[in-house]
Amino acid sequence: MKAVLMSAIVAAAVLSAGMAQASPDLAKSAGCAKCHDMDKKKKGAPGFKETAAQYKGKADAEATILKSINNPKGDHPEMKAKPEEVQAVVKWILSL
Ligand code: HEC
Repeated sequence: MKAVLMSAIVAAAVLSAGMAQASPDLAKSAGCAKCHDMDKKKKGAPGFKETAAQYKGKADAEATILKSINNPKGDHPEMKAKPEEVQAVVKWILSL
């Protein structure tokens, strides 16, 4: 039981370390900040805080967003960011 608890704590620590990297810097280097602002709409792209508020409390928020922004036939403009960068930034957005 103790071992299970310990590994849960370690997993949580690893997860939050990963989150720390998904910072505004990553949103910039991945190119997201070119179109997205923190809290205002910019060129039709919602502010990250608006998106966070819109998806607050939804269990499938991350999957829904990733599906919508990765769909080449969807509304989202094509991005040059790597899939793992996109995912990291989306995780960060949802933590706002
Ligand atoms: C070329 C401009 C542009 C770039 C670059 C861009 N976006 Fe967007 N984004 C938009 C526009 C326009 C919308 C609104 C249309 C839509 O909802 O798909 C949007 C919508 C979104 C939404 C809301 C989706 C929803 O379902 O509510 C999220 C989250 C998002 N973008 C994340 C990102 C992330 C993360 C990156 C960087 C990896 C990024 N965007 C890069 C223009 C951009």
